[in-house]
Amino acid sequence: MSDLFAPLEIGTLTLRNRIVVSPMCQYSSEDGFTTDWHLVHLGARAAGGAGLVFTEASAVVPEGRISPEDLGIWKAEHIPGLRRIVDFIHSQGAHAGIQLAHAGRKASMQVPWQPERVREPNEGGWPNVMAPSAVPFSDKYPMPVALDPAGISAVRDAFVAAASRAAAAGFDVVEVHAAHGYLLHEFLSPLANRRTDSYGGSFGNRIRLLVEVVDAVRAVWQKTLFVRISATDWAEGGWDADQSVELAKTLKNCGVDLIDVSSGGMVLDAKIPVGPGFQVPFAERIRREADIYTGTVGFITDPAQADQLIRNGQADLVLLARELLRDPYWPLHAAAKLGKTVSWPKQYLRAAPAGSTPRQADNR
Ligand SMILES: Cc1cc2nc3c(=O)[nH]c(=O)nc-3n(C[C@H](O)[C@H](O)[C@H](O)COP(=O)(O)O)c2cc1C
Repeated sequence: MSDLFAPLEIGTLTLRNRIVVSPMCQYSSEDGFTTDWHLVHLGARAAGGAGLVFTEASAVVPEGRISPEDLGIWKAEHIPGLRRIVDFIHSQGAHAGIQLAHAGRKASMQVPWQPERVREPNEGGWPNVMAPSAVPFSDKYPMPVALDPAGISAVRDAFVAAASRAAAAGFDVVEVHAAHGYLLHEFLSPLANRRTDSYGGSFGNRIRLLVEVVDAVRAVWQKTLFVRISATDWAEGGWDADQSVELAKTLKNCGVDLIDVSSGGMVLDAKIPVGPGFQVPFAERIRREADIYTGTVGFITDPAQADQLIRNGQADLVLLARELLRDPYWPLHAAAKLGKTVSWPKQYLRAAPAGSTPRQADNR
């Protein structure tokens, strides 16, 4: 039986355990470049024992950033900074993933520790905010421009170019971000997609852009590929779990290795029953009905809870976000609580439980 500390062979790699640092925006970049913050933040979580460490949503075009301070991967100059972080993550025996993203109608916004508002062009924002349709997220967000066919092709090409740069930076996993009300999710959901062309209306039309992106990325990205989705919009008339299952079957046929199952982010008045592991049932259902690996995320904080859901076969990976902000060493602490012996950074071995082994670099 698998447990939280069982390795997982997935795509081209073997993860040392099932614990993943969920993508988390740090709003600490300028012009998309990594800073010391990213190295220290992501590096600490690799040292802390996670099997896979994801960067935050990394914009495939500048206008696809949520805020001007987002990380980016839209030009070759971004590669060396990312490479340095990947190399450090590997030195800790972890694998490195990058989430490729386009913020769609939620772009050009203020950082979250400031009052919510649009960032104007004279303060680093941009006027060309794009979406499937000219429908804003809320009255505090920009009015987007509906993408025309050339714009849609450009989005697809930007994801592909970004995936090639991710390969050059040495990443092990690419995750296409199609969740949380950002561009690719906006195409999926009838609540944001009011198009009448071949990218709107029917289920097949609404998933078209995501499938095109994934197919095109798969052609240049030979390593492990994840897609993050919002399994439901939690809103009447929106994207839902049945459609997510059908989408997952299609993505499996496109060569996707894992569906990272989140939810929400499409509309403000969603009724979301948050609580420990509240999104697990979606990961479990997609895993069973689409017969694909899934990751689960959301309000997972307790080692026994995380271990149990792997043991129960409800998901294959557990992604943690806020709990890993509180404690970068959560995986090391979880191992001790669950009675597992794991590797520790050799520099920290004197603080480790008896029997802990020194960390080996992951050399690929
Ligand atoms: C500071 C912060 C930044 C986040 N940024 C991203 C992101 O870049 N991409 C993404 O898919 N989710 C992002 N999320 C959502 C998390 O990845 C995760 O899905 C969510 O926080 C629920 O998990 P948790 O309960 O373990 O925090 C972010 C969450 C936090 C707290």
